[in-house]
Amino acid sequence: MEKYVILGGARLEGEVDISGAKNSAVALIVASVMVKGVCKIENVPLVSDTYVLCDIINQLGGQAELSDKGVATIDCTNLDNFEASFETVGKIRASSYFMGALLGRFHHARVALPGGCDFGVRPIDLHLKGFSRLGASHSIENGVVDIQAENLAGASVYMDTVSVGATINIMLAGALSEGTTIIENAAKEPHIVDVANFLNSMGANIKGAGTDVIKIKGVESLHGGTYSVIPDQIEAGTFMVAAAITNGNVLIKNVIPKHLDSISAKLMEIGVTVEEYDDSVRVIGTDRVIRANVKTMPHPGFPTDMQPQMVTLLALGDGTSIVTENVWDNRFKYIDELTKMGANIRVDGRTAVIEGVEKLSGAPVSSTDLRAGAAMVLAGLAAQGVTEVYNLKYIDRGYEKFEEKLRSLGAQIARRSTDDTTPARKSKTA
Ligand code: UD1
Repeated sequence: MEKYVILGGARLEGEVDISGAKNSAVALIVASVMVKGVCKIENVPLVSDTYVLCDIINQLGGQAELSDKGVATIDCTNLDNFEASFETVGKIRASSYFMGALLGRFHHARVALPGGCDFGVRPIDLHLKGFSRLGASHSIENGVVDIQAENLAGASVYMDTVSVGATINIMLAGALSEGTTIIENAAKEPHIVDVANFLNSMGANIKGAGTDVIKIKGVESLHGGTYSVIPDQIEAGTFMVAAAITNGNVLIKNVIPKHLDSISAKLMEIGVTVEEYDDSVRVIGTDRVIRANVKTMPHPGFPTDMQPQMVTLLALGDGTSIVTENVWDNRFKYIDELTKMGANIRVDGRTAVIEGVEKLSGAPVSSTDLRAGAAMVLAGLAAQGVTEVYNLKYIDRGYEKFEEKLRSLGAQIARRSTDDTTPARKSKTA
């Protein structure tokens, strides 16, 4: 087991390249099981989620390989298995996309119910409701959902709640259905558009992705091709906060600035400078950020996946901030860890009331999920003294070369065995 050891206080300076979007890559990898032909997916982040999904495809009987250059080559031409019910499948949330992909291809899917980060209840009722509109019925037994349809026929699907996962799953099943599927109140996240573009480049006919009405004209089959994943909005946002929280000056490269609008706007509101260029943003910190109110919302609102990072920044702000989590019902578990470092935050249901403090101090803390883990690292970068961050498996699910990228900006962070008690020093390797 490993931990990060961080010596706080270094201002981050320099340039950093953002990797491909993890939440997009995981959907594209799974979507490849619908394709007869070779899919080459470029700019795939080398994180544990993408490797695990490639393994799952191999276990299903397809061929998937992820090169160390971030190119996933996937050939499922001869795949004839609709059963993704083994243990690893249930461990990763994005494997829920196997429901739509296998249903689309075989009109039958057996998939272990998805796990992933624990933000409270993570239901799949909207996914199942969408499939039933297309003519599929389902049953759930022993943690495995079985979905079948004699024929998949396009239909109108209204989402009661805006759901990224359900929107993607219905796009997948709809792409190979007969007739036209219309998703209303669809999610509009950048990776929804990426999934539609990927499928269209393989022969699908999907229009309107990125708006709240998506129209999918079903096609008979999808063919192989090459596609490149969009940059990771949340990784970029995390580095933006890293620059801000260390009062640094960082050029964050290979981004789509438009995808960062809600994050940039909030950072500017609290006194951080954000300069936008064609495919990069420069973030310049300030001595102390100002208090703010933040409400997480589906895209284009402020992303829930940036909530822990923003709370951490506001924990050091001047004044009382209020952060409301509108997407997940239990996404403040990490706050107990921040409190160990001296943060003064009170949680009441979906609202965190943050009394800004002047300093945080290093402490041993744990990642409670992927983005909360990143937030612990950000807190450690800003804190006085040494912070140890445990449970790195969460961070490894979604951040490629996190500590290497931070070190290249001057952070004093090292990955060590949890048994290693060497004190952190001010050196290149912390
Ligand atoms: C995706 C992201 C995750 C992000 C989330 C919201 C991936 C792999 N994960 O997760 O990082 O935090 O979007 O931006 O892309 N809901 C239902 N019924 C359903 C499905 C969802 O009620 O059938 C509710 C959820 O409980 C939640 C809300 O809808 O309150 C949004 O969830 P959803 O957008 O589906 O999240 P994921 O796709 O799981």
